[in-house]
Amino acid sequence: HRHLLGIAGLQPHELLFLLDEAEQWIDMNRAASKHDGRLEGLTQINAFFENSTRTLLSFEIAGKRLGADVVNMAAATSSLKKGETLIDTAVTLNAMRADVIVIRHAASGAVGLIADKVDCPVLNAGDGRHEHPTQALLDALTIRRRRGSIAGQIVAICGDILHSRVARSNILALTSLAAQVRVIAPPTLMPPAIEELGVTTFTDFDKGLEGADVVMMLRLQNERMSGGFIPSTREFHALYGLTAERLKRAAPDALVMHPGPMNRGVEITSEVADMPGRSAITEQVEMGVAVRMACLDILTRRARKVEGWA
Ligand code: CP
Repeated sequence: HRHLLGIAGLQPHELLFLLDEAEQWIDMNRAASKHDGRLEGLTQINAFFENSTRTLLSFEIAGKRLGADVVNMAAATSSLKKGETLIDTAVTLNAMRADVIVIRHAASGAVGLIADKVDCPVLNAGDGRHEHPTQALLDALTIRRRRGSIAGQIVAICGDILHSRVARSNILALTSLAAQVRVIAPPTLMPPAIEELGVTTFTDFDKGLEGADVVMMLRLQNERMSGGFIPSTREFHALYGLTAERLKRAAPDALVMHPGPMNRGVEITSEVADMPGRSAITEQVEMGVAVRMACLDILTRRARKVEGWA
């Protein structure tokens, strides 16, 4: 694989290889000195055409810890505002001889489009409602470390599934690694034919939570609902908000996850989000840096003439 555009198309052994490679960075990231240097001399461009806190910063930190020269293209102040097309922007980045480009875009498929126009590896940092592969990898790594394995775990993914690239990439990764995935959403936010991906669907939150080992909450993606049905946050919280009382329906030691950004008091209460021993939300962020270091390392191996990616 030259690029990382999605979880779709990756084999289970490739997903496990990425997780194993990420493990090696966790200890270094916890040490006082956090420098490796294997990407020395390479230029990494982060082109984010949509807002981000976690993904942008962790890709920047990951690249810097590996020694790359990291440049962030701020879409808000770029020439996109002057009418430049996405393809012309991609060709421009390519002409600057980037060695790896990390892209987030609001349109599904936009990252794949850019990948076809450039000579270097492209990493998808989230495209529309399509995929967010590094998020799924960091979630899988968090589950594996906290639960001991992924296979056999009952993972309930809850909330706005319809607009969520996080849900889609997680469904693909977790089913591929033999977890039992449940999808819980109101009928209006449930994608049609989602069962074809090998998940069980629930519109009743309480039933879907029953015995779950991992409860992954998602926010309402209001920015992708223009013109459509937007649920009231009060009603959504009443029916689909994770409270401490509701969490009792899950397994006694169930892990609580959220990719962020959270809307406290809507899809999750602060009591649950901050619950000691149960919430893995900050650990997810920590795993994000390790996973992104692994992805940057692996995808630049061909250019660096290093063995080790399928
Ligand atoms: N989880 C996630 O993608 O967060 P950001 O939008 O802050 O990058």
